[in-house]
Amino acid sequence: MGYTIYICSSPIRHLLLLVIFTALQLANGGLDKDFYIVFLRDHLELDEGKAAQKHVDLLSSLKGNEDGARESLVYSYTKSFNAFAAKLTEDEVGHLSGMDEVVSVIPNRYRKLHTTKSWEFIGLPTTAERNLQVESDIIVGVFDTGITPQSESFKDHGLGHPPAKWKGTCAQFANFSGCNNKLIGARYFKLDDFPDDDDILSPIDVDGHGTHTSSTLAGSLVPNANLFGLARGTARGAVPSARIAAYKVCWASSGCADMDILAAFDAAIADGVDIISISIGGLSGNYTSDAISVGSFHGMRKGILTVASAGNDGPSLGGVTNHAPWIFTVGANSINRNFQSNVVLGNGHTLPGTGVNTFEPKQKSYPLVSGMDVAKDAQNRNSSSQCVQGSMDPKKVKGKIVYCKLPAWDADYIVKGLGGAGAIMESNMYLDNAQIFVAPATTINETIGKSIADYIASTRSPTAVISRSQEVKIQAPSVASFSSRGPNPGSQHLLKPDITAPGIDILASYTPMKSITGLQGDSRHSDFTLMSGTSMSCPHVSGAAAYVKSFHPNWSPAAIKSAIMTTATPMSSKTNKVAEFGYGAGQVNPTKALNPGLVYDMDDFSYIQFLCHEGYDDSSLANLVHQSSINCSKLLPTNGEDALNYPTMQLSLKSKQEPTTGVFRRVVTNVGPENSITYNATIKAPKGVVITVKPAALTFSHVSQKRSFKVVVKANPMTSKKLMVSGSLTWKSSDHSVRSPIVIFNPVALATQNVK
Ligand SMILES: *[C@@H]1O[C@H](CO)[C@@H](O)[C@H](O)[C@H]1NC(C)=O
Ligand SMILES: *[C@@H]1O[C@H](CO)[C@@H](O)[C@H](O)[C@H]1NC(C)=O
Ligand SMILES: *[C@@H]1O[C@H](CO)[C@@H](O)[C@H](O)[C@H]1NC(C)=O
Ligand SMILES: *[C@@H]1O[C@H](CO)[C@@H](O)[C@H](O)[C@H]1NC(C)=O
Ligand SMILES: *[C@@H]1O[C@H](CO)[C@@H](O)[C@H](O)[C@H]1NC(C)=O
Ligand SMILES: *[C@@H]1O[C@H](CO)[C@@H](O)[C@H](O)[C@H]1NC(C)=O
Repeated sequence: MGYTIYICSSPIRHLLLLVIFTALQLANGGLDKDFYIVFLRDHLELDEGKAAQKHVDLLSSLKGNEDGARESLVYSYTKSFNAFAAKLTEDEVGHLSGMDEVVSVIPNRYRKLHTTKSWEFIGLPTTAERNLQVESDIIVGVFDTGITPQSESFKDHGLGHPPAKWKGTCAQFANFSGCNNKLIGARYFKLDDFPDDDDILSPIDVDGHGTHTSSTLAGSLVPNANLFGLARGTARGAVPSARIAAYKVCWASSGCADMDILAAFDAAIADGVDIISISIGGLSGNYTSDAISVGSFHGMRKGILTVASAGNDGPSLGGVTNHAPWIFTVGANSINRNFQSNVVLGNGHTLPGTGVNTFEPKQKSYPLVSGMDVAKDAQNRNSSSQCVQGSMDPKKVKGKIVYCKLPAWDADYIVKGLGGAGAIMESNMYLDNAQIFVAPATTINETIGKSIADYIASTRSPTAVISRSQEVKIQAPSVASFSSRGPNPGSQHLLKPDITAPGIDILASYTPMKSITGLQGDSRHSDFTLMSGTSMSCPHVSGAAAYVKSFHPNWSPAAIKSAIMTTATPMSSKTNKVAEFGYGAGQVNPTKALNPGLVYDMDDFSYIQFLCHEGYDDSSLANLVHQSSINCSKLLPTNGEDALNYPTMQLSLKSKQEPTTGVFRRVVTNVGPENSITYNATIKAPKGVVITVKPAALTFSHVSQKRSFKVVVKANPMTSKKLMVSGSLTWKSSDHSVRSPIVIFNPVALATQNVK
């Protein structure tokens, strides 16, 4: 019951399971034995069986016998990297860490989960050009809460057998009817031994999150999708002909364990997926110890791009997760639609509020009270002004609409429980996305709240009615309030997030196993529902990546990512206070990304160079690559400011008195037309910054030709109040525009700027 209150304390209810995960983590912290992931030196020249036996042997040498070893071993990762998960005591971890063949031992941690119209909004209409033959050979792997196989979005109309490269599996499991030619793979990973009464050991999606993200990514066309009449339209994914493989790694009460996520990477890479979409975050380790970072690195080495959500920790700064340079990190932006449920007061005034209120009022008006005036007793006045559970007198609430103040995100649920007629919740945050209410309700801002309070004070018997929600058009895009912002906590030389995509009030498929709010007493079910989060924006970009890959099957993960970033639509720094730290390169534009002209390409060696530059040493890199192949001190000297061929640039100021100069070395590859073509550099420099490019023109005579250039950024010191400024470099030809934002970050400002 305590959890319920937490779950509802945010506008984005479905994301708030995470509070539970944290609690669970704390609860498990005291156990004598814990789960660890142990990375080993050899990188799988062995066959799988032999590698797994080696894991047993290693544990046997530690435990003194094979039985103990087998009991402690939880999983052998043998396909894409060499590691195992085991239940170990701290002493055993100490011993293992000292062993020669052991590279590192990391504790298993638990993470959290972070449409009709959105595709039109970003310019990918149903009529967009498609390369169907190849698209139907594309397999997207979704790591999430599982999937709903019977959903209309996963019907396989017209699709042939899975592509020959597919090596994955699907079977019938509890409550899971099996796969078809659309949903070609489904498996689950749950290596811990904690029971989960709220979930089912099967790829079935009890939560709805995985069904939602998968259908946004690659769902088939479903006409007339809607949530109780709202957001009506044809639901579809970016690549309706692509195949889906679901990897369930997130569980209702335990969250998403690192060892399960790594097992899913190990499997998906070997199964033959093309793109991995992962709307999970919540923890950030460094680049060689974070499970998503390590797993996605191994994917990248096999040509698989991992697209991940940036997190929902905005608007405070520096919360972006999944920020490794080989991951495509996605923030969320609004679309030009909002759901309004208005309040009509007894004095005739209509006041705007936000939210999904599917209830048609039964009466013309209801008595209206302020939470403060319906307290159980004087001591509870403060809590009842926030509609806190247990603070209000049910007799004074019954049949009335109650107005309460932040943080009353669950006021609708609590007021309903007391027999109230509805709730009006005032907040100064997160009003850009619509919460789905369990009773008549709306959320309003502080100005509107003041008018309501004034009205209540002005009359003996105040009344109000809350109208059913309607869609309204709004200005868009802007960065979602909740979307995690930069600067990147993992590196001062790398701009994150990379990009944004629609992540507010996205309509997509849902599970029949949960009511639309998941709250007690809600019996409303729907095949489609609205959700908000970077979890929703992530599959828009995974879908765009699959779309680009269907036209360019041989492009590397870095090339696909570069194409999507350099063609993104820049957003306005006027309406988005921290500019690129909110939106990266801008909003994804899938059709433009098909034809970027030039790409910034990279291979695993480039990323290793970057890590060396960041101060990782040869031994910590061994989680990623065969150790003997790296010698950081050999790699370093002449790599410029970031030692990376990234499509964006970030310079961090090094002094409060002197200008800081950074040299960025870049190589672009021509992927444009066959004939000779010249690109000219166009520079936009903010005040106090000088940016020069050498050479200022690049001429290509054939496809795949590479050209290198150098960008010198010289930035004056900034006041400690100024967090960042930004400019850009755009390579322009007659047909193409290849844009890279350039950010100058002032680290000393971060501490002072980090307001809530
Ligand atoms: C899952 O299947 C079992 C056995 O058929 C059934 O008893 C149970 O109600 C199902 N659970 C859900 C949530 O549908
Ligand atoms: C009432 O609640 C607010 C906000 O939680 C708090 O700042 C204030 O101190 C409380 N006042 C009393 C009298 O408890
Ligand atoms: C509250 O909303 C109203 C109507 O949209 C708007 O005019 C007002 O500026 C908003 N107030 C705040 C504090 O955002
Ligand atoms: C990364 O994290 C691991 C595990 O916490 C640690 O051993 C290693 O030293 C860290 N590396 C860097 C460069 O911070
Ligand atoms: C790495 O390279 C440096 C510089 O070339 C050299 O001095 C050092 O011996 C090398 N280390 C190893 C382990 O090969
Ligand atoms: C690039 O610059 C050259 C020399 O100034 C000019 O002749 C050419 O038209 C420019 N090309 C483009 C595409 O702007």
